[in-house]
Amino acid sequence: MANFTVNGCWLEEPVIKFASSGDVKGTVSQLKEELGQIVVDLDRSTTYHLKKSQLLKPVGIVRKVLDDIAAHPSTLFATVQSFYTHQTSMLISSLEAALLSALLTETIGEKSKESLQIVAMGGLLHEIGIAQLTFDPFADVKVFNGEQRVEFMQHPISGYNILRNLPGISPEALLIVLQHHEWTNGHGFPYMLKNIYPLAKIVSIVAEFVYRTHTHLAHPGFKADDAISMVCSDTGKFSPELSLTLKKLILGAEKGT
Ligand SMILES: [Fe+2]
Repeated sequence: MANFTVNGCWLEEPVIKFASSGDVKGTVSQLKEELGQIVVDLDRSTTYHLKKSQLLKPVGIVRKVLDDIAAHPSTLFATVQSFYTHQTSMLISSLEAALLSALLTETIGEKSKESLQIVAMGGLLHEIGIAQLTFDPFADVKVFNGEQRVEFMQHPISGYNILRNLPGISPEALLIVLQHHEWTNGHGFPYMLKNIYPLAKIVSIVAEFVYRTHTHLAHPGFKADDAISMVCSDTGKFSPELSLTLKKLILGAEKGT
Protein backbone atom coordinates (compact mmCIF):
# COMPACT_ATOMS: atom_id res chain seq x y z
CA MET A 1 0.00 0.00 0.00
CA ALA A 2 1.31 3.43 -0.94
CA ASN A 3 2.76 5.57 1.86
CA PHE A 4 2.50 2.86 4.51
CA THR A 5 5.87 2.67 6.22
CA VAL A 6 6.72 1.42 9.68
CA ASN A 7 9.93 0.72 11.58
CA GLY A 8 11.56 -2.29 9.89
CA CYS A 9 11.59 -4.30 13.11
CA TRP A 10 7.77 -4.62 12.96
CA LEU A 11 7.34 -6.04 9.45
CA GLU A 12 6.49 -9.53 10.74
CA GLU A 13 3.78 -8.31 13.15
CA PRO A 14 0.40 -9.74 12.06
CA VAL A 15 -1.33 -6.35 12.24
CA ILE A 16 1.39 -4.80 10.05
CA LYS A 17 1.00 -7.57 7.49
CA PHE A 18 -2.74 -6.85 7.25
CA ALA A 19 -2.35 -3.08 7.26
CA SER A 20 0.48 -2.97 4.74
CA SER A 21 -1.63 -4.97 2.28
CA GLY A 22 -4.58 -2.60 2.76
CA ASP A 23 -6.76 -5.26 4.45
CA VAL A 24 -9.20 -3.28 6.63
CA LYS A 25 -11.09 -6.30 7.95
CA GLY A 26 -7.93 -8.21 8.81
CA THR A 27 -6.36 -5.17 10.46
CA VAL A 28 -9.31 -4.40 12.70
CA SER A 29 -9.84 -8.02 13.63
CA GLN A 30 -6.15 -8.29 14.62
CA LEU A 31 -6.50 -5.13 16.74
CA LYS A 32 -9.51 -6.70 18.47
CA GLU A 33 -7.50 -9.86 19.06
CA GLU A 34 -4.76 -7.81 20.76
CA LEU A 35 -7.43 -6.15 22.89
CA GLY A 36 -8.80 -9.55 23.89
CA GLN A 37 -5.32 -10.69 24.92
CA ILE A 38 -4.91 -7.58 27.10
CA VAL A 39 -8.12 -8.51 28.93
CA VAL A 40 -6.90 -12.09 29.46
CA ASP A 41 -3.57 -10.78 30.81
CA LEU A 42 -5.26 -8.29 33.16
CA ASP A 43 -7.65 -10.96 34.40
CA ARG A 44 -4.79 -13.38 35.11
CA SER A 45 -2.45 -10.81 36.62
CA THR A 46 -1.83 -11.20 40.32
CA THR A 47 -1.11 -7.50 40.86
CA TYR A 48 -4.25 -6.18 39.16
CA HIS A 49 -7.53 -6.66 40.95
CA LEU A 50 -9.39 -6.18 37.64
CA LYS A 51 -11.63 -9.01 36.53
CA LYS A 52 -12.91 -9.90 33.08
CA SER A 53 -16.50 -9.15 34.12
CA GLN A 54 -15.59 -5.53 35.01
CA LEU A 55 -14.03 -5.08 31.62
CA LEU A 56 -16.93 -6.36 29.51
CA LYS A 57 -18.51 -2.96 28.89
CA PRO A 58 -15.23 -1.08 28.35
CA VAL A 59 -14.13 -3.79 25.90
CA GLY A 60 -17.38 -3.33 23.95
CA ILE A 61 -16.74 0.41 23.87
CA VAL A 62 -13.17 0.02 22.57
CA ARG A 63 -14.30 -2.52 19.96
CA LYS A 64 -16.91 -0.01 18.75
CA VAL A 65 -14.22 2.70 18.56
CA LEU A 66 -12.05 0.36 16.47
CA ASP A 67 -14.99 -0.26 14.13
CA ASP A 68 -15.63 3.50 13.87
CA ILE A 69 -12.00 4.11 12.97
CA ALA A 70 -12.03 1.23 10.49
CA ALA A 71 -14.98 2.86 8.71
CA HIS A 72 -12.34 5.32 7.48
CA PRO A 73 -9.46 3.21 6.11
CA SER A 74 -7.11 6.21 5.79
CA THR A 75 -7.57 6.87 9.52
CA LEU A 76 -7.14 3.20 10.43
CA PHE A 77 -3.90 2.77 8.50
CA ALA A 78 -2.46 6.12 9.63
CA THR A 79 -3.18 5.07 13.22
CA VAL A 80 -1.53 1.67 12.87
CA GLN A 81 1.44 3.24 11.10
CA SER A 82 1.88 5.72 13.95
CA PHE A 83 1.89 2.95 16.55
CA TYR A 84 4.78 1.25 14.80
CA THR A 85 6.92 4.18 13.61
CA HIS A 86 9.59 3.73 16.25
CA GLN A 87 11.38 0.76 17.74
CA THR A 88 8.89 0.88 20.64
CA SER A 89 5.41 -0.22 19.64
CA MET A 90 2.64 1.92 21.08
CA LEU A 91 -0.18 -0.49 20.21
CA ILE A 92 -0.60 -2.34 23.50
CA SER A 93 -0.16 0.74 25.70
CA SER A 94 -2.66 2.66 23.55
CA LEU A 95 -5.25 -0.14 23.70
CA GLU A 96 -4.74 -0.36 27.48
CA ALA A 97 -5.16 3.41 27.79
CA ALA A 98 -8.41 3.23 25.78
CA LEU A 99 -9.74 0.34 27.87
CA LEU A 100 -8.83 1.75 31.30
CA SER A 101 -9.99 5.25 30.36
CA ALA A 102 -13.43 3.87 29.45
CA LEU A 103 -13.47 1.84 32.69
CA LEU A 104 -12.48 4.81 34.88
CA THR A 105 -15.02 7.07 33.17
CA GLU A 106 -17.75 4.49 33.68
CA THR A 107 -16.71 4.02 37.31
CA ILE A 108 -17.04 7.71 38.16
CA GLY A 109 -20.68 7.46 37.05
CA GLU A 110 -20.65 8.51 33.40
CA LYS A 111 -23.48 6.62 31.73
CA SER A 112 -23.43 8.22 28.28
CA LYS A 113 -22.17 5.79 25.65
CA GLU A 114 -21.04 8.73 23.58
CA SER A 115 -18.75 10.01 26.36
CA LEU A 116 -17.33 6.52 26.92
CA GLN A 117 -16.58 6.22 23.20
CA ILE A 118 -14.97 9.68 23.14
CA VAL A 119 -12.70 8.91 26.09
CA ALA A 120 -11.78 5.50 24.62
CA MET A 121 -10.95 7.07 21.26
CA GLY A 122 -8.87 9.74 23.00
CA GLY A 123 -7.10 7.05 25.01
CA LEU A 124 -6.38 5.01 21.91
CA LEU A 125 -5.01 7.94 19.91
CA HIS A 126 -3.43 10.17 22.55
CA GLU A 127 0.18 9.29 21.67
CA ILE A 128 -0.13 9.54 17.89
CA GLY A 129 2.12 12.61 17.92
CA ILE A 130 5.01 10.51 19.28
CA ALA A 131 5.35 9.07 15.77
CA GLN A 132 6.41 12.53 14.55
CA LEU A 133 9.38 12.77 16.92
CA THR A 134 12.84 12.46 15.38
CA PHE A 135 13.75 10.03 18.19
CA ASP A 136 12.06 7.22 20.11
CA PRO A 137 11.43 8.75 23.56
CA PHE A 138 11.01 5.30 25.10
CA ALA A 139 14.06 3.54 23.69
CA ASP A 140 16.63 6.07 22.46
CA VAL A 141 17.19 8.20 25.56
CA LYS A 142 17.05 7.83 29.33
CA VAL A 143 16.97 11.55 30.00
CA PHE A 144 16.00 14.12 27.36
CA ASN A 145 18.46 16.85 26.45
CA GLY A 146 17.08 20.39 26.08
CA GLU A 147 16.25 20.04 22.39
CA GLN A 148 14.58 16.66 22.85
CA ARG A 149 12.49 18.03 25.72
CA VAL A 150 11.24 20.91 23.58
CA GLU A 151 10.46 18.53 20.72
CA PHE A 152 8.72 16.04 23.03
CA MET A 153 6.53 18.76 24.51
CA GLN A 154 5.09 19.40 21.07
CA HIS A 155 3.76 15.86 20.56
CA PRO A 156 0.20 16.63 21.76
CA ILE A 157 0.03 19.37 19.12
CA SER A 158 1.49 17.20 16.34
CA GLY A 159 -0.93 14.40 17.26
CA TYR A 160 -3.83 16.84 17.11
CA ASN A 161 -2.66 18.15 13.73
CA ILE A 162 -2.34 14.68 12.22
CA LEU A 163 -5.74 13.57 13.45
CA ARG A 164 -7.71 16.71 12.59
CA ASN A 165 -6.90 16.04 8.94
CA LEU A 166 -8.22 12.48 9.10
CA PRO A 167 -11.90 11.53 8.83
CA GLY A 168 -13.86 9.97 11.69
CA ILE A 169 -12.23 11.61 14.73
CA SER A 170 -14.60 13.61 16.92
CA PRO A 171 -13.61 17.13 18.04
CA GLU A 172 -13.80 15.95 21.66
CA ALA A 173 -11.35 13.10 21.02
CA LEU A 174 -9.05 15.64 19.32
CA LEU A 175 -9.23 17.78 22.45
CA ILE A 176 -8.15 14.81 24.58
CA VAL A 177 -5.13 14.25 22.34
CA LEU A 178 -4.22 17.94 22.60
CA GLN A 179 -4.64 18.12 26.38
CA HIS A 180 -3.42 14.71 27.60
CA HIS A 181 -0.30 16.23 29.22
CA GLU A 182 -2.02 19.22 30.84
CA TRP A 183 -1.95 18.98 34.64
CA THR A 184 -4.45 20.20 37.22
CA ASN A 185 -1.77 22.51 38.75
CA GLY A 186 -1.44 24.38 35.45
CA HIS A 187 2.17 23.25 34.94
CA GLY A 188 1.52 20.70 32.22
CA PHE A 189 2.23 21.06 28.52
CA PRO A 190 1.93 22.29 25.84
CA TYR A 191 -0.35 25.10 27.05
CA MET A 192 -0.12 25.01 30.90
CA LEU A 193 -3.92 24.97 31.06
CA LYS A 194 -5.79 24.96 34.36
CA ASN A 195 -9.17 24.53 32.76
CA ILE A 196 -8.82 21.05 31.28
CA TYR A 197 -11.47 19.09 29.39
CA PRO A 198 -12.73 16.51 31.96
CA LEU A 199 -12.24 13.50 29.68
CA ALA A 200 -8.67 14.64 28.97
CA LYS A 201 -8.02 14.50 32.73
CA ILE A 202 -9.07 10.85 32.68
CA VAL A 203 -6.80 9.92 29.78
CA SER A 204 -3.98 11.93 31.36
CA ILE A 205 -3.95 9.90 34.58
CA VAL A 206 -4.59 6.56 32.88
CA ALA A 207 -1.83 7.22 30.33
CA GLU A 208 0.64 8.00 33.11
CA PHE A 209 -0.27 4.77 34.90
CA VAL A 210 0.02 2.69 31.72
CA TYR A 211 3.35 4.36 30.86
CA ARG A 212 4.78 3.35 34.23
CA THR A 213 3.70 -0.28 33.84
CA HIS A 214 5.54 -0.67 30.53
CA THR A 215 9.27 -1.28 30.20
CA HIS A 216 11.24 1.62 28.72
CA LEU A 217 14.87 2.63 28.72
CA ALA A 218 14.16 5.10 31.52
CA HIS A 219 12.58 2.51 33.83
CA PRO A 220 11.97 -1.24 34.04
CA GLY A 221 8.14 -1.31 33.91
CA PHE A 222 6.69 -1.20 37.38
CA LYS A 223 4.20 -3.59 38.93
CA ALA A 224 0.66 -2.22 39.01
CA ASP A 225 0.71 -1.46 42.75
CA ASP A 226 3.98 0.49 42.51
CA ALA A 227 2.85 2.28 39.35
CA ILE A 228 -0.44 3.41 40.88
CA SER A 229 1.33 4.60 44.04
CA MET A 230 3.61 6.75 41.91
CA VAL A 231 0.65 8.20 40.03
CA CYS A 232 -1.17 8.95 43.30
CA SER A 233 1.87 10.74 44.68
CA ASP A 234 1.87 13.10 41.67
CA THR A 235 -0.69 15.24 43.50
CA GLY A 236 -0.29 18.42 41.47
CA LYS A 237 -0.67 16.65 38.16
CA PHE A 238 -3.87 14.71 38.56
CA SER A 239 -7.21 15.07 40.30
CA PRO A 240 -6.93 13.36 43.74
CA GLU A 241 -10.46 11.91 43.33
CA LEU A 242 -9.57 10.33 39.99
CA SER A 243 -6.28 9.00 41.40
CA LEU A 244 -8.08 7.33 44.28
CA THR A 245 -10.78 5.85 42.04
CA LEU A 246 -8.16 4.44 39.67
CA LYS A 247 -6.23 3.04 42.63
CA LYS A 248 -9.34 1.27 43.94
CA LEU A 249 -10.03 -0.15 40.50
CA ILE A 250 -6.50 -1.42 40.00
CA LEU A 251 -5.87 -2.77 43.50
CA GLY A 252 -9.40 -3.52 44.69
CA ALA A 253 -11.45 -1.62 47.26
CA GLU A 254 -9.51 -2.94 50.28
CA LYS A 255 -5.93 -2.39 49.12
CA GLY A 256 -6.88 0.72 47.17
CA THR A 257 -7.83 2.84 50.15
FE1 LIG B 1 1.95 11.80 25.55
